[in-house]
Amino acid sequence: MLRLYRLLMRFTGILTISSPGMAAIPFILSVQQASAAAAQWRSQDYAAAIAHTERLVLIAEKDTRILGFVVAYIAIPEWELENIAVAPDARRCGVGRALMTALLERARQDGGREIRQEIRESNIAAQKLGLSVGFVQEGRRPRYYRDPVEDALLFKHLLNLR
Ligand SMILES: CC(C)(COP(=O)(O)OP(=O)(O)OC[C@H]1O[C@@H](n2cnc3c(N)ncnc32)[C@H](O)[C@@H]1OP(=O)(O)O)[C@@H](O)C(=O)NCCC(=O)NCCS
Repeated sequence: MLRLYRLLMRFTGILTISSPGMAAIPFILSVQQASAAAAQWRSQDYAAAIAHTERLVLIAEKDTRILGFVVAYIAIPEWELENIAVAPDARRCGVGRALMTALLERARQDGGREIRQEIRESNIAAQKLGLSVGFVQEGRRPRYYRDPVEDALLFKHLLNLR
């Protein structure tokens, strides 16, 4: 059943990527809460991220449903991808890649030189997503995460290299 839903999700409707307004926050939180591996931010963190230009928030929508989001911190010329999640029933349909591609494009347009991301060693989906859009692994922070303790793998995308 989920496989059929994913097929429909992949091949029907138009996926749009845009900057959200405050009204999107409950839907962003609902995607986040269904994604244990995502950073668990509070409603006010998203409100601040949407309101201030030091962060970029993008959402992916199809048929008016918010399927995923990405948040990046902008410290020109370096950006940091802080959070990304896609609703569990919409995964493996290209939503994460569409969010990443839009983020990379926006960072290039805004003069970014590189984007960094830290990912738990066990989070293979996030690592493969990053690798699929051109991130490379450049290091490791031992025992960086808590609950459970785990190494962080450090990834980087050089934006001028297409
Ligand atoms: C990581 C995440 C955002 C990926 O989103 P997604 O919409 O499923 O990703 P896509 O469908 O765009 O996948 C793009 C590519 O990434 C890779 N990928 C994504 N999920 C994968 C998985 N579970 N296993 C292996 N590769 C995976 C594949 O190369 C895939 O391309 P393909 O489907 O053509 O093989 C999603 O799994 C998620 O929300 N995870 C929980 C939150 C999270 O881990 N956030 C990151 C915190 S650092």
